[in-house]
Amino acid sequence: MLTQIIAHRGSKGTRPENTLPAFIAAIEDGADGIETDVHLSRDGQLIIMHDELVDRTTNGTGRIVDHTLAELKQLDAGVKYASAYAGTRIPTLDEVVQLLIQYNFTGIFNLEIKTNKIHYEGIEDLVADYFNHHQVPFTLIYSSFYGKSIERLHILQPEVESDSLFKTKVQTAKRLHAQHIVLGYHPDIRWVRVHWLLLPKVQLRPWTVNTERDMRFCYRHRFAGLITDYPGLARRIRKQVQG
Ligand code: G3P
Ligand code: MG
Repeated sequence: MLTQIIAHRGSKGTRPENTLPAFIAAIEDGADGIETDVHLSRDGQLIIMHDELVDRTTNGTGRIVDHTLAELKQLDAGVKYASAYAGTRIPTLDEVVQLLIQYNFTGIFNLEIKTNKIHYEGIEDLVADYFNHHQVPFTLIYSSFYGKSIERLHILQPEVESDSLFKTKVQTAKRLHAQHIVLGYHPDIRWVRVHWLLLPKVQLRPWTVNTERDMRFCYRHRFAGLITDYPGLARRIRKQVQG
């Protein structure tokens, strides 16, 4: 099995992160998977963005949770990346899924539930309900830094793979794995390079694997996957190491 190449927030290295152009680029770059992040708006819509605040990636200010979807749709999510992307909008989960369906994307769709800073009430139920009502061509994998989100999703959709995200604390991840709630871990690559021998033998998909050196490390150790801003580069290096 080749190590899966998963595009972080879409092809974040070459497009405005977590926007439709970034997801299209990920597909065109030949990524095996796409990672993205989901939050809740004030009116309970599933919003695709990394930060809890709109400030860094858009021309707006404040928290996603304090905006309605209509207000979020007024913001520009491309212009800060490059003027060529001016007018790019913040997508909803449904818009991203419809895009992947349109492109017949059959890889991994890794949806990170961004509940580690704001515990969006009911977000797991909304996500599970969404996927229970939509046929999709891709393989869904949930992940979260917040163990309770993973546990709730496992209750709602035990058939969908969940993986634990962690930086330096592995206790929660180990417990969830022992309880068969998570199948794998998505750790920080910097942590993995120091500690990975201490981990139980589970599937690992570290992030954010952007250097050739870190990519080669993941490929040599035959990790299940890696999450990268540069899926095109990751494919070229994988060819050299894994064939
Ligand atoms: O899901 C892997 C990675 O995205 C976790 O970190 O902060 O980029 O969402 P972050
Ligand atoms: Mg993420």
